[in-house]
Amino acid sequence: MRIDILTILPELLKGPFSASILKRAQDKGLVEICIHNIRDYATNKHKNVDDYQYGGGAGMVMSIEPIVNLIEELKSQREYDEVIFMTPDGGLLEQNTCNELSLKKNIIILCGHYKGIDERIRENFITKEISIGSYVLSGGEIAAAVLADAVIRLLPGVLNNETSALTDSFQDNLLSPPVYTRPPEYRGWKVPEVLLSGNFPEIEKWREQEALKRTKARRPDLLDD
Ligand code: ADE
Repeated sequence: MRIDILTILPELLKGPFSASILKRAQDKGLVEICIHNIRDYATNKHKNVDDYQYGGGAGMVMSIEPIVNLIEELKSQREYDEVIFMTPDGGLLEQNTCNELSLKKNIIILCGHYKGIDERIRENFITKEISIGSYVLSGGEIAAAVLADAVIRLLPGVLNNETSALTDSFQDNLLSPPVYTRPPEYRGWKVPEVLLSGNFPEIEKWREQEALKRTKARRPDLLDD
C-alpha cells in the first residue's frame, strides 16, 4: 500500500512514522508513506498557500492551485483509490472505514488548515471526508497520522499473531476485556483466579463476558448495531 500525505507542515508528520510499528511496516516494505509539502507546488512569488476568503470573514482559506498541482502530479504517476480530506465536518472515523481502506492500493490524504480549503477542491478531487472526532484540531496532520496508523496496523504482516488486529476492540463491535500480567498479586490486588487456572475454555468464556460487560457499561451504542 502507498499513502501520500499532503500538508503545509511536513515536520509535524515525521514523528509518528519514524518509530515502532509504523516504522517497521515501512522498513519491511508493507507500506510506503510519502509526505509532500503543498508549499512546493505554489507558483506565486511568495509561495503562499492560503488567501482571504471571498465575501469577507475571519480566517484564511487554503488556495486551490498548489493543492491541485500536487494532486494532479501524483495522479499522473499512478491511480489512486481514494483522495481523503481530513476535516472536522467529515464522516466520523470508525473501524469499518479503516478495514475498507486497508484493502486499497494507493490513497492520498489531504490535511486541512486555517478556515478550510477552497470548496472547489472538495467538489472536484476529494472522494472521502473524514473526521477523527467531534472537536477541532489546529490542523489535519495529527488526524492524518491517526487514520494512517489505524489503517497500516491492519495490513497483513504488520502485526504478528500475538498482537493480531483481529482481536482489537471494535472488530466485533465489542470493547476488549481487561488484561493482566505478573505479579499475580500486588498490594493485595489480585488477578482474577480464572486467568491463572490454565482452563482455556473457561478463560475464553470469562473474556467474552467481561468484554460484553465493559461494552454495555461504556459503549452501549456498539451493541445497537
Ligand atoms: N482537522 C481539524 N480537526 C479535525 C478533526 N477533528 N478530524 C479530522 N481533521 C481535523
